[in-house]
Amino acid sequence: MSPISRPRGTEDLLPDRLAAMARATEVGMRVASSFGYRQIATPIFEATELFTRGVGDTTDVVRREMYTFPDRSGRSLTLRPESTAPVLRAFGESSLRELPPPVRLSYAGPMFRYDRPGRGRYRQFHQFGVEAVGDGGAELDAEVIAVAWDWLSELGLGGISLQLNSIGDAQCRPAYRQALLDHFAPHLAQLPELDRARLGRNPLRILDSKEPGTEELMATAPRTLDFLCEDCRDAVERVQSALRAYHIPFELNPRLVRGLDYYVRTTFEVWHEDLLGAQNALFGGGRYDGLSELLGYPAAPGVGFAAGLERVVMLAPPGPSLAPPQVVVCSAQPTAVPLAIDLAQKLRRDGLTVLSDVGRRSLKGKMRAAERSGAGAVGLLGDEEVKAQRVTLRRLSTGEQLTVRPEEVSLQVREWEQATDGGEVHS
Ligand code: HAM
Repeated sequence: MSPISRPRGTEDLLPDRLAAMARATEVGMRVASSFGYRQIATPIFEATELFTRGVGDTTDVVRREMYTFPDRSGRSLTLRPESTAPVLRAFGESSLRELPPPVRLSYAGPMFRYDRPGRGRYRQFHQFGVEAVGDGGAELDAEVIAVAWDWLSELGLGGISLQLNSIGDAQCRPAYRQALLDHFAPHLAQLPELDRARLGRNPLRILDSKEPGTEELMATAPRTLDFLCEDCRDAVERVQSALRAYHIPFELNPRLVRGLDYYVRTTFEVWHEDLLGAQNALFGGGRYDGLSELLGYPAAPGVGFAAGLERVVMLAPPGPSLAPPQVVVCSAQPTAVPLAIDLAQKLRRDGLTVLSDVGRRSLKGKMRAAERSGAGAVGLLGDEEVKAQRVTLRRLSTGEQLTVRPEEVSLQVREWEQATDGGEVHS
């Protein structure tokens, strides 16, 4: 029988990688919490309509990338491809909407998109993100960017650039859309098929085009920033001035459009120099003031970002590696097993990290494994020790050996650790 392997585009998070992702999430949650963001978790599956309405049914995410299935009662469900629409649904449906705005929320978890798997691109990936809901003030846009920026700096991630744009709102976007259509109309025949389709469905998406034929025409295309109404112009100025106050450098990029339909005004992405091509964003976000109404709830303006954790971990310098066990407790004979288990448990209660090695293999094999584990000390229990109710404790870095009572082991291990940290031993 052929072995069963994991589905394409998914990953088993092995301990080292999982630890790195957990650390990145933990640092993110800590930074977000220092800005007043509190964690929320929404279901991994939702009613399909949440995304067709919220994210928009002309987007690639909804048209081609959703994992959608009927449940046993025939309801159409979708594994969440993103979390902004779910968080807004949860906000609209709960007592959160009674809190004084903005309500600051953070989240992390798996998302699902039937994307073409590649470097930093998965079908199940993980996001860390925040949403600030209930306030339309442009300074809040800068605040969510600051959360992300501080997070990446704390992870030691350099080589990044913040791309900022405003795509206008219901007032000024129609005129911009028309100007784009007018610009490309005389050249339709010259456009690649993909971009002709984009123009028909959602003209702004053409700004994102990487097709060579379109790129040339893009150079002279109208720019979103030149079409903003007064309110949108004021907002984009306020975002920039708040970003300066946060000392966050940015580049105005009038070609930055995002792949999801709910954005108004501010959109942003952070790019990394090592992530090239279409998938160069470490994180993206923006303002989505009409989303709540689209989902059938009262108005709740908001802004947020989400970052791909796989991409962040791939580019951030590795964090501290996992600490080795402090003690390995070994039994030399089967008769010593109960005492060895007992000792290991006692040491764990004392706060130490302990491996217990009480199987039937030879003591020599156990000692070799203890050395390989990088442990500081080994507690040995054989017939002699059981009779005398003592433990033979060996310090692995020096070979020093003592016989002590079980209740003295923790103290002795800690003393040796302090001596090592104090520079007495250089291993
Ligand atoms: P998004 O740009 O679709 O935005 O995704 C955000 C980030 O998720 C991307 O920048 C990327 O790092 C990561 N990502 C997306 N697709 C994949 C994939 N297939 N594999 C690995 N990583 C991926 C959103 O999801 C919005 N909800 C962000 C937002 C929050 N806007 C406002 N609030």
